[in-house]
This record gives sequence, C-alpha cells and structure tokens, in this order.
Amino acid sequence: MTQQPAPLAAPQSARRLLIVWWSVTGASRAMALAAHRAACDAQECEVQACEVHLRQAGEASVDDLLQANAFLFVMPEMLGSMAGAMKDLFDRTYYPLLGRLEGRPYALVVCAGSDGSGAVRQLERIVTGWRLRRVAEPLIVCTHAQTPEAIAAPKVMTPEALEAAAVLGQSLATGVALGIW
Ligand SMILES: Cc1cc2nc3c(=O)[nH]c(=O)nc-3n(C[C@H](O)[C@H](O)[C@H](O)COP(=O)(O)O)c2cc1C
Repeated sequence: MTQQPAPLAAPQSARRLLIVWWSVTGASRAMALAAHRAACDAQECEVQACEVHLRQAGEASVDDLLQANAFLFVMPEMLGSMAGAMKDLFDRTYYPLLGRLEGRPYALVVCAGSDGSGAVRQLERIVTGWRLRRVAEPLIVCTHAQTPEAIAAPKVMTPEALEAAAVLGQSLATGVALGIW
C-alpha cells in the first residue's frame, strides 16, 4: 500500500471583519450594505486583505463570531433597546463566547426614529462582558419616523448617512487588514 503524503500545514486563516445586521424597514440593512461594500472595496488597495463577512442577525452563529477579528453591529432601536432579533443573537451566543473574544475591536450603527441611545447603551453593556474594545464612536442615524405610518414605511437613507456607514466599514476593514488591533 502506498503511503499517503503527510497533510500540508493548514494555511493561516485570513483576518476577518464580520458585519452583523438586523432591520425591519430597511434603514439598518442599507447601512450594513454600505459598510460592507466599502469594506470590500478597501480590500482592493490593501496588500494584507481581510475577509469581510455579512450576516443577518438570525443567521449569525457562535462560530461566525469566533472566527472574526473585528465586528460591526448594525441594528434599529426599538422600544428603547436593541431590536429583538439582534438581542436574540446575543442571547444565543453570549455564554458560549464568554472569555473567548477578549480585546477584539468593534463598532456599531443604530438606526432610530429619534433617539438610539438606549440601543447603544444596551449593546455596549453586553459586549463589555465579552471585553470587546470599541474603536469608533457609535453611529446613530435618526430616520425621524414618529407616527405609526412613518415608522412602518420603508426607509431611504441619506447619502450622508450611507457615507458615514461606508467610512466605518472601510476603516474597520483597513484596520483589520493592517493588523492595527
Ligand atoms: C416597535 C418599534 C419600536 C420603536 N422604538 C423606537 C425607540 O424606542 N426609539 C427610537 O428612536 N425609534 C424607535 N423606533 C423607530 C425605529 O428605530 C426606526 O423606524 C428605524 O428606522 C428602524 O430601523 P430599520 O429601518 O432598520 O428597521 C421604533 C420602531 C418600531 C417599529
């Protein structure tokens, strides 16, 4: 019987930015997509590229989070806290990942009718437990939806808001690619 060659050492896995989002009426989705596009575009100019993964909150797994070197969380504020589907992500993954993500960088985007601070506070409290490190000011985008009709309507983001999301995605991807964090 011929001897099998020894397996090659596994290639060092690429550094990875994970963008996790949830959206009901499209604002957070548009912001996540803008960040994702800019993060991917930034890779074309970098020598040491990072992979950019985009996951809807309900599809993100413990492994997705574990494999990522940095995170961008994008979500709406609802009833003064983060939207339930985003909270579900942390409910599912918090304890399996406790003590395993220490020091990893993150940033966050919150879409809100008029506030957003409750969702920011809640997310920051949760990821402080993981000892994540915030590397950018929270980006809060107010859609000025106040009535039931305006709140239920599909959202169209301004070019300025999309640009702010793009800058965040690009900076995170570049930081990860260059190993700044
Ligand atoms: C049930 C519900 C609760 C909401 N609660 C808040 C709130 O507490 N503070 C706020 O600023 N906006 C609140 N909003 C407005 C949303 O944050 C806003 O419409 C945002 O654009 C939704 O993001 P999305 O388009 O990504 O779904 C609420 C909307 C809904 C549907």
